[in-house]
Amino acid sequence: MHQDLTSHKVIITGITGGIARETARLLLSLGAEVIVSARSQDKLDAAINTLDGNVSGYVMDLTNADDVAAFFGKVGAFDHLVTPAATGMFAPVRDMDWDAARALLDSKQWGQMLCVHHGAKHIKETGSITLFSGTVTQKPLAGATMFAAAGAATEAAGRIWAFELAPVRVNTIAPGVIDTGVWAGIMGEEAAAGVKESIAQSLPVKRIGAPKDIAKSVAFLIDNSFVNGITLVVDGGHRLV
Ligand SMILES: NC(=O)c1ccc[n+]([C@@H]2O[C@H](COP(=O)([O-])OP(=O)(O)OC[C@H]3O[C@@H](n4cnc5c(N)ncnc54)[C@H](OP(=O)(O)O)[C@@H]3O)[C@@H](O)[C@H]2O)c1
Repeated sequence: MHQDLTSHKVIITGITGGIARETARLLLSLGAEVIVSARSQDKLDAAINTLDGNVSGYVMDLTNADDVAAFFGKVGAFDHLVTPAATGMFAPVRDMDWDAARALLDSKQWGQMLCVHHGAKHIKETGSITLFSGTVTQKPLAGATMFAAAGAATEAAGRIWAFELAPVRVNTIAPGVIDTGVWAGIMGEEAAAGVKESIAQSLPVKRIGAPKDIAKSVAFLIDNSFVNGITLVVDGGHRLV
C-alpha cells in the first residue's frame, strides 16, 4: 500500500520529542504539509532544520492556554491533529513529587485536551485526531502512576470525543517502551540504558520500540477512515508478560 498525504495538513505537537520527530519525518515523506510546535523558537528552528519537506511551526507551551489558542488560530483549517507532546516522570505514590506529577497532568492530559478543544474549531470534517496514552494504562508498572492516570483519562476522553466531534475520528495510541529521550530525562542516561535493555529481553519481540514503530501507527490511523474511538496498543506484547 502506498499512502499519499499530498494536500493533507497535519499538526504535530512537541517536535523535539522522539515520537513527534519520527512521525513528522514519515508524514512529510508521504507528501503531507506538517505544522509543528516546540516550547521555544530556538528548539523549533533546530528541529525544523532536521526535517525535509513542507514543514513549518510555531512556539507553544501546552501548560499555557493562551499559547494553545494562539497556535491553532495561526494554523487555521487543517486535516489531522497528532498530540505526542508531554512531560514525563516516575515516582512511587509514597514519594510522589507533586510538582512533577502536576506538570505531567498539565501537559499530557490537560495539554492534549486543550489542543482538542482549540483544534476542533479548525479541523476538517474528514479529519482525524491521534492522542497518546501508554501501555501502563493496561499493565501496572511501579512508579508510573501519573503516566497511567493521565493516559487512562485521555483514552476515556478520546472515546467521548469520537462521538462529540463526529465525523472527525478520534483514536489514542498506547505506546509501550519506545527508544526516545524520555527515559534518560526521567532517570539519567546510564539507568535508562539498563532499564531499556532489561525490558527488551523480557518482551516477546526481544526489543523495545523505535519511534518509527509509532510513526507508522499514526500514519495508519490517519489513513484508515473506518478506525474510530480505539486505543491502539503498540508495545511489542509488553502487556502480555
Ligand atoms: N517513549 C516511551 O517509551 C513512551 C511510552 C509510553 C507513552 N509514551 C508517550 O508518547 C508521547 C511521546 O513520547 P516521547 O517519548 O516521544 O517523548 P519525548 O521524546 O520525551 O518528547 C516529549 C516532547 O514533549 C514536549 N513537551 C513537554 N512538556 C511540554 C509542554 N508543557 N508544552 C509543550 N511541549 C512539551 C517536549 O518539549 P521540550 O523539548 O521543550 O522538553 C518534547 O518535544 C508522550 O505522550 C509519552 O507519554 C512514550
